[in-house]
This record gives sequence, structure tokens and C-alpha cells, in this order.
Amino acid sequence: MKRFLTLSLAALSVVSFVGCEPTEFKEGVVMAGGQYVSAATLNKGKQIYQEYCMACHGVDGGGDGVASKGLQPPPRNFKLGIIKFGNVVSGELPHDDAIYKALKHGLNGSAMLPWDLKQDQMVAVWQYIKTFAPDTWIGKDKELGKKFDREKFKDPFTIARRQQAIELGRKIYHVEANCQSCHRGYVTEAEMNLMSKELTGDEYGELEEDFYKLKIQESDHGYAVVPPDFTWHELRSVRADKAVEDIYVRLLGGVGGTAMPAWKDTLEDHKIWALAYYIDYLRGYKNSAKRQNFVARMKK
Ligand code: HEC
Ligand code: HEC
Repeated sequence: MKRFLTLSLAALSVVSFVGCEPTEFKEGVVMAGGQYVSAATLNKGKQIYQEYCMACHGVDGGGDGVASKGLQPPPRNFKLGIIKFGNVVSGELPHDDAIYKALKHGLNGSAMLPWDLKQDQMVAVWQYIKTFAPDTWIGKDKELGKKFDREKFKDPFTIARRQQAIELGRKIYHVEANCQSCHRGYVTEAEMNLMSKELTGDEYGELEEDFYKLKIQESDHGYAVVPPDFTWHELRSVRADKAVEDIYVRLLGGVGGTAMPAWKDTLEDHKIWALAYYIDYLRGYKNSAKRQNFVARMKK
């Protein structure tokens, strides 16, 4: 890959020296949300893209670059115009700052590493990437989604009532939201029946055969996706120092183009916070000697 990058760099400088690159942008465009992007910005973005991003994301943004082979998950296919980790309800168009967050911090557990780019470089490269999906991004008629405003978040638990949040989150996860229909369950049959009785008045009965298994899901990205086991996998969009808040955002909005739903209008707000604390608690078992005992209790 290193050699490839050097080669493409050499090719680029020849082109700019000759000054006749065929697909150079001559005009600016208006992007979704009414944002005007100049030709100079797009050309700068293209150069950055070719230097740093093309090896994985491909010449035309198709996610099929020379370094993409065998990557799991595969690099995003930008032609589809679908973003997974936006700051809006999935399906709506995300605001640029959600992408800058992914660029700055990377997407954990994937080949998408953190990039040390300056703000103007991030702006340029992301505006250029939008041109791979003009039907999604270009045109003043296109609107961005309603952004989640972190400033206005009100965590009803805070760290002081963390334990209470975890207890509630465990119940919501398994009984009300049935998250284990895609992800896996993290309680025993006895615990499941107790929680179910308490919340619904009825016992749950026998656990399904696949209660403790991850259920692979189709996606709009052209490949199947694995719902993470929170005690095992990295969470792509979750930063260690802001875990509960980042998980809360993900639960509000879901994961674009995948089966992971947006819970914003399905569950009450305090229950989504409780789930965020519970998922963060499960994350604590990752790389911990305690994980073995925790999951060993749960066999089917
Ligand atoms: C080594 C391979 C690699 C390189 C180089 C790379 N990416 Fe990625 N990128 C990925 C992978 C893999 C994903 C998909 C992760 C996932 O599906 O969770 C991704 C996803 C993305 C996403 C989608 C985020 C979302 O929420 O859907 C954006 C935007 C992105 N990359 C931008 C860039 C930019 C800009 C560069 C260059 C500065 C770059 N990438 C370089 C591998 C790479
Ligand atoms: C219909 C299937 C389905 C259901 C139901 C579901 N999920 Fe997911 N979830 C997924 C899939 C698929 C992914 C992985 C998407 C990807 O990374 O491409 C995912 C990813 C996640 C992530 C990781 C986000 C990241 O940054 O990597 C979290 C957290 C999550 N789900 C929590 C939950 C919780 C909590 C519930 C219940 C309230 C739930 N999910 C219900 C399918 C589902």
C-alpha cells in the first residue's frame, strides 16, 4: 500500500505540472443544506482523497480500492450515499461534523483509522467525497436531517445513579426492546423470566436456541453486517472518554443502511439513557478476565 501511495503521488504531481487533469472541477456546487462549495475546495479535496483515501475507498469512491481486499467491514462505498454513523436519525442526511468526528477518531475495530488532517483538509475531502453520490448530496433542494444537539442532552441518571441505570437498561434491552433479536442475550433463563414477569406480568418461557448468538443481518451497503457482542467487539462510533453519550447518540439515530434501528421515537428518553449505561457496562467486560465467567453462566 505504501508503494501504491508513492506511485499515485508521483502521478498526481506530473498531472498538476502539466496542468491538464481532465476531471478537474471548474465550477462550485451547492450541497444539501444549501452549502456552497467552490471548485477550488473540490479540487483540493480530490487531491487529499487521492493521496490518503483512494487506496481503500477506490478511484470512483466505490469502496473497492486496491487496499480494500479482505477488509471486514469493507470501506464505505460512497456512491451509495449512505452514512452509517450520522448525528441524525438514520436515513436522513447527516451534518458534516459527524463525518469530521469519524475522521478525527477513526471507526474503532475497522480499517478506518484516525486521520491527522487539518480542519480545512477535512472539509475539502468530505465535500469532494459527496460528489461521488450527486443524487444524494448535490442540489439546493436537498435537506439535512434534524441534528442531535449534544449541548441539550439531559442525562437523567448521571454517574451518581449509574447502577440504577444499568439495572433498568438490562430489563429494557431484554424484555421491552428485545435487542437480542439481532445482538445476543446477556442473562440466564431464570433472570429472563424474573425480569419479564416484573415488566409484563408474564414469564418469558424457554430461551430461543439462538438467544446467545449474534444474528447476521443483510444491509443496504451490499454486504452482511454483524450486530456486535458488546462484551467482545469494538463499537465503531463510540469514544472511550465519551462512551455513554456516544452510545446514546447511536441508539437515538441507529446505524444508516443497516438493520440497527433508530430508537428515538420508539423508546422513552430515560430508557434510551438506561440502555446506553447498560451497553457501556457490558463494554467493561471486553479485555477483562471477568468476561469468561460472565458469559460462561449463559449456555444454551
Ligand atoms: C485502510 C483503509 C481506509 C482508508 C485509507 C480510509 N478509509 Fe475510510 N473507511 C474504511 C472502512 C473499512 C470504513 C467502513 C467502516 C464501517 O463500516 O464501520 C470506512 C468508512 C469511512 C466513512 C464512512 C463513515 C460513516 O459513518 O459511514 C467515511 C466518511 C470515510 N471512511 C472517509 C475516509 C477519508 C476521508 C479517508 C482519507 C482521509 C479515508 N476514509 C481513508 C477504510 C479506510
Ligand atoms: C434488527 C436488528 C437489530 C436490533 C433489533 C438491534 N440492533 Fe443494534 N445493531 C444491529 C446491527 C446490524 C449493527 C451493526 C451495524 C454495523 O456496524 O454495520 C448494530 C450495532 C449496534 C451498536 C454499535 C454501534 C457502533 O458504534 O458500532 C450498538 C451500541 C447497538 N447496536 C445497540 C443496540 C441496542 C441497545 C438495541 C436494542 C435497544 C439494538 N442494538 C437492537 C442490529 C440490530
